[in-house]
Amino acid sequence: MQVLTRTLPKPVVLVPTMGALHEGHLALVDRAKQVAGRRGTTVASIFVNPKQFGPREDFQKYPRPFARDCLLLRKKGCDLVFAPTPAQMYEPDASVLVTESKLETVLCGLARPGHFTGVCTVVTKLFHLVQPDIAIFGEKDFQQLVILRRMVRDLNFPIRVIGHPTFRETDGLAMSSRNVYLTAEERRQAPLIQQALREAERKLRTQSISRKNLQKSIQNWIEQGSMAKVDYVAVVDPKTLQPKEPTELPVLLAAAVFFGPTRLIDNILVK
Ligand code: PAJ
Repeated sequence: MQVLTRTLPKPVVLVPTMGALHEGHLALVDRAKQVAGRRGTTVASIFVNPKQFGPREDFQKYPRPFARDCLLLRKKGCDLVFAPTPAQMYEPDASVLVTESKLETVLCGLARPGHFTGVCTVVTKLFHLVQPDIAIFGEKDFQQLVILRRMVRDLNFPIRVIGHPTFRETDGLAMSSRNVYLTAEERRQAPLIQQALREAERKLRTQSISRKNLQKSIQNWIEQGSMAKVDYVAVVDPKTLQPKEPTELPVLLAAAVFFGPTRLIDNILVK
């Protein structure tokens, strides 16, 4: 399979997605159009990548409203949609994977073994197939962004990676294709994640507090206000993703939280 973007007007700007598009994805497309300028080409890919889902995760039930996604992209003025099938993307006996070996050992990588190898492998393939000059990823998936930047650096992809800020609902909940899984009650409680992170930011700006106590206060804020179960809360260096005392900025405050079976993530970068 070869996508002939080599002859397209440059820069070619790619927004990789798994579809079920929401305003967060569309904000990336807006950014792509802006970066591509009047002459360049904006490409969105839609591919629910089986290799980045664990055996007990939601690959089968992941929403796939393909016609609606295409309509939204057309309305936004996205020039091309690349939407391969799993059979087109993966040979049945495919045996080469792309693994980042350091940054994936923490945060979401702990709870989702193999996930980032799936992401790096599919994004490598998308890069080879679409041959973009620029790729845009959301800061909502901060660890993914840091890992893909490392992959591009370490494997010399001739591609500029741009990170785009998290787009939120009016009550602060980070937009996610998985928000549709939430019950009405869970949806009402879900903005607590962002509130807890904001409250932690306020704390670390106004008082001296250790990393452990800050993490504990975020966890308590979320679990006391909801039925949610915190998977992890972390205060880390935004480049290395290693634990960092919040006395020195910048720090990334990150959380993954289960609302029933639905795992939501969010973060804020305190500069
Ligand atoms: P997906 O979850 O569909 O997200 C596609 C892109 O949109 C990612 O870069 C993600 O960080 C960004 N995004 C999602 N929600 C956002 C929000 N509320 N604000 C801003 N950006 C947001 O991430 C993936 O797909 C996949 O792992 C992929 C990179 C496509 C590889 O399969």
